[in-house]
Amino acid sequence: MSKGSTKRLSIIGAGAVGTSAAQWSVQRQIADEIILYDVVEGLPQGKALDISQTAPLNGFAGTISGTNDFSQTADSDVVIITAGLARKPGMSRDDLLDKNVQIVKAISEQAAAYSPESCLIVVTNPIDAMVYTAFKVSGFPRQRVIGMAGVLDSARYRLLLAKALGVAPGDVTALVMGIHGDNMLPMVRLANVNGVPVTELLDQATIDEIVKKTQYGGAEIVQHLKTGSAFTTPGLAAVEMAEAILKDSRRVMPCAAYLEGEFGISGLFMGVPVVLGSRGVEKILEFPLTEGEKAALELSVQAVRKQMEATGL
Ligand code: LAC
Repeated sequence: MSKGSTKRLSIIGAGAVGTSAAQWSVQRQIADEIILYDVVEGLPQGKALDISQTAPLNGFAGTISGTNDFSQTADSDVVIITAGLARKPGMSRDDLLDKNVQIVKAISEQAAAYSPESCLIVVTNPIDAMVYTAFKVSGFPRQRVIGMAGVLDSARYRLLLAKALGVAPGDVTALVMGIHGDNMLPMVRLANVNGVPVTELLDQATIDEIVKKTQYGGAEIVQHLKTGSAFTTPGLAAVEMAEAILKDSRRVMPCAAYLEGEFGISGLFMGVPVVLGSRGVEKILEFPLTEGEKAALELSVQAVRKQMEATGL
């Protein structure tokens, strides 16, 4: 951790997601110092300068700087890794694996060397394999290597449910578990509106459609954009996680955590509900699954194992 109570956040990659994360983290003032790093000369400096100039309009001191020098990220409390290629139409997240594993490997080595006490939040796709790469390469304990996916997927799920119900999105509590891919598992029986189960409010056909739309939520955006994937909500999702760690708020969020027997799964990263605090994953909230949920989660396990093998680690 950084000296004293000064909190440092580094964001690696000044592409669309990294820039979004930088913007949200400045706006939410989640750290005293925010560093945006990229290998492309001038890119993080220009973006950081632009973001810092929102300060007078937003009414706070925008303490963000951009750099091409990884040593400038030293002693970060949290490092958000967004660097890598993004999806183009027709590409699955898996298609990115070979290229992005090299990028995430190099970054994780440097992050571990310069910020040995940090928590790593991995956003680069395919997330479940990239977070495993960061875990292996950094040598960090499992508590301090976390993948961002569930917060994003659950936001999509919650919004779809809110729209179908005609209620405020913030009042919908819903959880997506499993892989960040087609086999992700939006949990139906646990979804509720301030305590009222959605299964009592929506018919099965509507729920089925929402589950499908959630699973393809990322692909739908790629289809529209054609040149890349979602970035605004992915950036905010990573910032929500970073904020919970930096402020030790013990918020509960679905994150890709390394499982050692939880939910009957071992030796891989998988989206599960976790408590986030200053030590990273403070706790995994484990609960009994139905037979149907177990079978659905097994599809995620198989898909993640395939990705892990492809990393060669
Ligand atoms: C998505 C990409 C970022 O789900 O994976 O939008």
